[in-house]
Order: sequence, then structure tokens, then C-alpha cells
Amino acid sequence: MAGNWKMFKSPAETTTFFEKFLPLVAASHHAEVVICAPFIDLAAAIGATQGSAVAIGGQNLHWAKEGAFTGEISGPMLKAIGCQYVIVGHSERRQFFGETDETVLKRTVAALEVGLTPIVCVGEMLAEREANRTNEVLKTQFDGGIGGLTPDQFSRMVIAYEPVWAIGTGKVATPEMAADAHRALRGSCEARFGREASQAVRILYGGSVKPDNVQGLMAQPEIDGGLVGGASLEAGSFAGVVNF
Ligand code: PGA
Repeated sequence: MAGNWKMFKSPAETTTFFEKFLPLVAASHHAEVVICAPFIDLAAAIGATQGSAVAIGGQNLHWAKEGAFTGEISGPMLKAIGCQYVIVGHSERRQFFGETDETVLKRTVAALEVGLTPIVCVGEMLAEREANRTNEVLKTQFDGGIGGLTPDQFSRMVIAYEPVWAIGTGKVATPEMAADAHRALRGSCEARFGREASQAVRILYGGSVKPDNVQGLMAQPEIDGGLVGGASLEAGSFAGVVNF
């Protein structure tokens, strides 16, 4: 269960969040729990979660190790501060910051090279779903991004299926819709990396996951976890998702 805080919270708010959150999930051992925080909050998040089972991640990384890339953060930097995960190719980065399948692949490889677990996001826009193009879009994103990994690299990453129309809108995909998309993605994984690897890869669902709809989603065997935006910002609601 991964929380994506997007561009919310100060370091002080981060500390307060974990003071409330950690006791609420202390007895939960059924899922890996990750918070992907803004860069400026990472130090506070890593400090607050030391000795706990909660892991911390970034929300993006540059593919170069270092260099003249004003405003960017690299994989070795995330690793050095203590991150274990990083989100790559979130639809907000694809929509607003020019992310392409090609740059998603470069960032994914850069994360893996430094030992971070990338959570690579794919998903269709509303118009694409309405035009019945969901599986085609997922296949294109897969082929241009994840499909370019080596089998070893593939075995160390996590996929997040996030229909863009469900993100931050309160319009959650039905469990069946999500499971269909997960099956299509797993089919692409199987065609490229074989059956065993495709069964082993974790595919998270993201898009308006909340404490009151998480159970239905997680009841689908195809859905291995969640990538949670809005509902991860408040300790009680994210604990409600984690402890579904
Ligand atoms: P949401 O965001 O849960 O607020 O819909 C999910 C995401 O963008 O990862």
C-alpha cells in the first residue's frame, strides 16, 4: 500500500502525520507500506519511520546520476537520504511535465541501477476509455516503458495501474474494471517476461482509493495493492486503507 502525497505537506506536518500514523499500523504485517513524499519532506519522513516497517519513497527522479539539471533530483540522492521506492511516470507528470514512455523507461532504469524500487504508473485517459482504447493504451505504455527492461530489472519493480479519470475525482474504477485492466497488463508482462515473472510482479490499483472502497478492490485476486493519493494525506484514512 503506497501513499502518494503529491505536492502536499511541510516537514513539520510530515512529522505530525507519522506520530499519528505509525501506532495505527504497528500491528499490520499483511502489506508493505510506503509513503512517497515531496523531496523536502523526505528527511523528516525517514527520520520519523526509522525502526518501523514503513518505507519512504520519492515521487520522481532524473535519469542522470548528477549534472546540470536545475530543479531535478537523482536516484543516488534519493538513495542517500534513505528512500527505498520512487514513483515513476505518474499521469500528472505525463500530463503536465512532458513525461513520455521513453523518459519513463530511462527513469525506471536509473531507479533500479541505484537499488530503488520503482513504482511505474500507467493508465488511460477518459476519452481513451470511452473510445474503448484502454487495453491498446496500456499496451503502448507497457511496450514503450516497462517492456524495455531486462528480466532481472522487471523482477525488481512494481506496476501501478491508474486510470487518469479516477485520479482525484472520487470516481473509482469498479473492482471488475480494475481487474480487467490488471489482467491485460499481466498479459503484456507474460508475453514479454514469461508466466512466472508475470505472476510474481505486483500491480497496484490507483485512483480514488478510500477506506470504504479498498476492500472491494483488494478482493480481486488481480489487484495486489493500492497507490493512494488523497486518502493518504490523513493518518486515520491511510491507516483505514492499509488495515482494510
Ligand atoms: P487519488 O490519487 O487517490 O487522490 O485519486 C491517486 C494517485 O494519483 O496516485
